[in-house]
Amino acid sequence: MGFLSSMLIIIVILFETFFSHSVAITNTTKNAPFDQNYYVTWGKDRILFFKHRQEVQLSLDQSSGAGFGSKSYFGSGFFQMRIKLPDKDSAGVVTAFYLNSNVGVHDELDFEFLGNRPGKPIVLQTNVFAHGIGGREQRTVLWFDPTADFHYYKLLWNQHQIVFFVDDIPIRVYKNHQLSGLVGYPHRAMQVVVSLWDGSNWATDGGKTKANWTQAPFQAHFQDFNIAGCPSNPNSPNKGCYSTKYWWNKENYWQLNQRQMRDYETVRRRYMNYDYCSDKNRYPIPPIECHDP
Ligand SMILES: *[C@@H]1O[C@H](CO)[C@@H](O)[C@H](O)[C@H]1NC(C)=O
Ligand SMILES: *[C@@H]1O[C@H](CO)[C@@H](O)[C@H](O)[C@H]1NC(C)=O
Repeated sequence: MGFLSSMLIIIVILFETFFSHSVAITNTTKNAPFDQNYYVTWGKDRILFFKHRQEVQLSLDQSSGAGFGSKSYFGSGFFQMRIKLPDKDSAGVVTAFYLNSNVGVHDELDFEFLGNRPGKPIVLQTNVFAHGIGGREQRTVLWFDPTADFHYYKLLWNQHQIVFFVDDIPIRVYKNHQLSGLVGYPHRAMQVVVSLWDGSNWATDGGKTKANWTQAPFQAHFQDFNIAGCPSNPNSPNKGCYSTKYWWNKENYWQLNQRQMRDYETVRRRYMNYDYCSDKNRYPIPPIECHDP
C-alpha cells in the first residue's frame, strides 16, 4: 500500500471516530419543529421560518432585535443549538444562546457571540451565574468562520459539571463544588433562550466599535429544536433532575474523557483570549473555582 493511500485511510478513520462520537454525544434522533419546544418571546415581525419550521432566522435592525425561548424550564440536560451567525460587518451585534432561571435568585449559563468588523474575529464569550453571582466571563476566538456555516453550540448541565462545547470540543468546564459549599452551582430550573440584539455599548472593543446600521438587517440562523432536558418547575429548585435515569447524568458525563481533555487544553491554550480567573484588576485573589484544572 502506498504512502498516500495509507494517509487517506488514516484520515477516513479519524473522521469516522470524530463523527461517530459526535452522533453519540448529541443523541438527537428526531427533527423537532420549532413549535414543539419553543415559542417566540419578542420581535415576532423580525422572525422568519424555513424548512418546515426546522430553521429560524432572527433579524436585528436599528429599532429592534428578536428572540425565542423554550416552553419548558429544565433542571438538568444536554442542550444544543445549531447556529449560523450574522455575516459581513456584525460589529456591536450580539447573538445569544443561554439558559436562564429568570425568577428567584438568578442562575444563568451564557453563550454570547460578539460580532465584529469584516476580517476581525467574532469572539465567543461565556459566563456562569450561580445564586445571583456572575462576573465569570471567558472569551474564546473561534477557529473557524462561524458566519459561513452552521455549528453546534452545546451546554451539558448535570450534578457534577457544566460543560460548554463548540461542536464536540469542550471550551469551558465549571465543576460542582457544592459539597464544599464554597462555590455556587446553578440549582434552579432554567429556560433555554435565544436572542439577537444590539450590544453596541459593550460588545465590540468594549463598546468603542458600534453597529453600522447601513449594514442592517443583521441576520442569524438557528436549527435543531430538540431538547434533551429534565423538565422542572420554574419557581422551584431542580428537584429530581440529577437522577441517573437521565442519560446526561450518567457516569460517563461526570468528567471529560481523555480526548475531550486534550481538546479542552488545546483550545484554552490557543484560542482563549480573556479569562476572569487571570484578570488581576478585577480579582486580585482568583475565585476558588479558578483553581480547577
Ligand atoms: C440517548 O437518549 C436515550 C433516551 O432518549 C438514552 O436511552 C440513550 O442512552 C442516549 N444515548 C447516549 C449515547 O447517551
Ligand atoms: C458602514 O457601512 C457603509 C456601507 O457599507 C460603509 O460605507 C461605511 O464605511 C461603514 N462605516 C464604518 C464605520 O465601518
